[in-house]
Amino acid sequence: MIQHYFDNKNNYECLEQWASNRTITRLFVVCGSSFRYFSDIRSKINELEEKGIKVFYFDDFKPNPVYESVVEGVKLFRQFRADGLLAVGGGSSIDVAKCIKLYSSSDKPGEDGGWLKETINVNEIPFMAIPTTAGTGSETTRYAVLYYRGEKQSITNKDIVPDCVLLAPQLLKSLPLYQRKATMGDALCHALESFWSINSNDESKEYSTLAIQEILKHMDGYLNNTPEGNEGMLKAANVAGKAINISQTTAGHAMSYKITGIYGLAHGHAAMLCNKALFPWTINNADKCVDIRGSEYLKNLFDDIAGAFGVDSIEDAVNKFEDIFEKLELDIPSVTDERLNELVHSVNALRLKNHPIKLDEDDMVELYRQIFDERGFYDVSVL
Ligand SMILES: [Fe+2]
Repeated sequence: MIQHYFDNKNNYECLEQWASNRTITRLFVVCGSSFRYFSDIRSKINELEEKGIKVFYFDDFKPNPVYESVVEGVKLFRQFRADGLLAVGGGSSIDVAKCIKLYSSSDKPGEDGGWLKETINVNEIPFMAIPTTAGTGSETTRYAVLYYRGEKQSITNKDIVPDCVLLAPQLLKSLPLYQRKATMGDALCHALESFWSINSNDESKEYSTLAIQEILKHMDGYLNNTPEGNEGMLKAANVAGKAINISQTTAGHAMSYKITGIYGLAHGHAAMLCNKALFPWTINNADKCVDIRGSEYLKNLFDDIAGAFGVDSIEDAVNKFEDIFEKLELDIPSVTDERLNELVHSVNALRLKNHPIKLDEDDMVELYRQIFDERGFYDVSVL
């Protein structure tokens, strides 16, 4: 499917254009708590209402959304007889909207996680996404993440990709600094992991290269909340999303999910922690490459990654990645032996398989020891 992109030069005019082109009469808006800050979009939607379009707002879900919220969303979506779907928010809002689109096509009840086991042909209800963070790239991927009974569920379906995207950098103005750092880290990890994923192809590697270059170029502006920085990072995160849409993520993401769950760190923060350890480890273990293109391919790929980082060697790229981590001043938590064991045994095996080097249990123990603060690790484990 070809996505249609709007910029926001005309102050949300494109919303009206989209609604009119797709003959939308009943618009279901999925939005997070930040929606109250976006008065310009709200005014535009109010205008649509004045012109006769019925609007329903759904915001009854939390970050890291649960399956039950989607069941409720689908119920309301059907009751409202929506013929258009708009997601405004970060990754969670867009993922909830994707799932509402997907599961509203099912003719089976969704109770007891039923939809998670079903193969569903998705409806063609018009779906626009307006991301309000620069990180997940969810507006352009076929993935959505939900939690059911405490377990992470990865939903993958090419027909849940929004058919229209509005990139409006002014929406990033109210992002708090920690969220800025974490979402930028998420986008950088998407670009890097996609680069070395065993599923990469020429197209995804082009996206990865561009995303890394643009992230580095706009990092300072974005962290300082400049209009150019926000615009550049929003586009870079979108391009990084296109890269993982082809290649999927790898060990960095697989190892990060439980860290988020246990420590409550933002997703991108946890992904940065993991890739800080995985990046040098992957280079040092290139001879154990499992990508069918071979270890020579992987070693040559390291030159491309170094080029994207604007340095001459992969070792310098690792240093640059570490410098970014330092600059972001992201915390490094400590870990107990018990926690370490829990982390190793909860790694997402599917995502791990995309990594170019096979990781066994010992490798993960070693890596998690590197990820966490050493002083914290030893202090806690001797108690
Ligand atoms: Fe991510």
